[in-house]
Amino acid sequence: MLRQILSRPFFRMAGKAIRHPSRAVLRLVLKARLRRSSVDEERGRLLALLSRQFGVEAPGLLAEYRRSEFHTWFQQRRAALDRFDGPYRFGTTGVFECEALYLLVRAARPRVVVDTGVLYGGSTAHILEALARNGVGKLHSIDIGRSPDEPPHDHFVRPEVQSRWELVIGDSRRELPPLLRRCETIDMFHHDSLHTWDHMTWEFETAFPHLSADGILSSDDIQNPPDLPGIFRENAFPAFCRRRAMQYASFRNMGMAFRTSGSPATTEAQPERVSDPAHLPPTWARSRSWVESPI
Ligand SMILES: C[S@@+](CC[C@H](N)C(=O)[O-])C[C@H]1O[C@@H](n2cnc3c(N)ncnc32)[C@H](O)[C@@H]1O
Repeated sequence: MLRQILSRPFFRMAGKAIRHPSRAVLRLVLKARLRRSSVDEERGRLLALLSRQFGVEAPGLLAEYRRSEFHTWFQQRRAALDRFDGPYRFGTTGVFECEALYLLVRAARPRVVVDTGVLYGGSTAHILEALARNGVGKLHSIDIGRSPDEPPHDHFVRPEVQSRWELVIGDSRRELPPLLRRCETIDMFHHDSLHTWDHMTWEFETAFPHLSADGILSSDDIQNPPDLPGIFRENAFPAFCRRRAMQYASFRNMGMAFRTSGSPATTEAQPERVSDPAHLPPTWARSRSWVESPI
């Protein structure tokens, strides 16, 4: 009985906070950042942007998502994950960010998508469902892997959409370049693997030359400080977008950037050193300029 109670999400979180106090601080910082605006406001901004950018009726896409079988399936699978008996990791993309990703893929209708960081398939499933609803498109995913007693990578992925999916197991540092070479051109790249400055920047720089002329770059966890010093630094996503002259916007923890004719196509332009973020002004000095993004 006591074991059952202690295995509930609340007690698991409390246990983690005691074992890893610095992670608890990072979670608190994230919560404070997300509380700056309401989910409804953020959703309103997102719908307005998607409608304008892609000439779609985004509120209709949201209604479609909410009444879909997948929406119900996803809620049931989340509950199943909470009840999972064995070990499992936290990190599934938030409800709002999953919804945002679905709407983005429905609105933009990309044909070739690459994402990194699958875990149990939360965000991956949303991309796949949107592609399936579009009736066109393929997703190539990379994840470093899981232990055999964890839930599977396709925990959130319905069997109906798996035919559009290729899952590569391995470190994205090794697997992303050959995958991109195989795809040649991609319409969308979504990052959700390792959220350090260096790794995010490396993935964005690696994917960028393969993005089609109107390609999209998106990233989860752009408000998550990767470590304690990272609380005072800007996130790698807005910094990359500015360097590459990509228009970008952020909606809670999700960043979206759109390639335009002004975005240079090659990787030669490196006006800022990407491996050392220490030279950047602290987040508190810059944050509003990108939270109230240029789009
Ligand atoms: C935040 S979780 C992804 C959550 C997932 N997108 C979802 O919505 O459920 C991060 C994932 O990235 C994977 N990962 C971490 N470092 C990686 C790397 N270097 N290459 C590939 N995958 C990596 C981890 O195994 C983990 O599954």
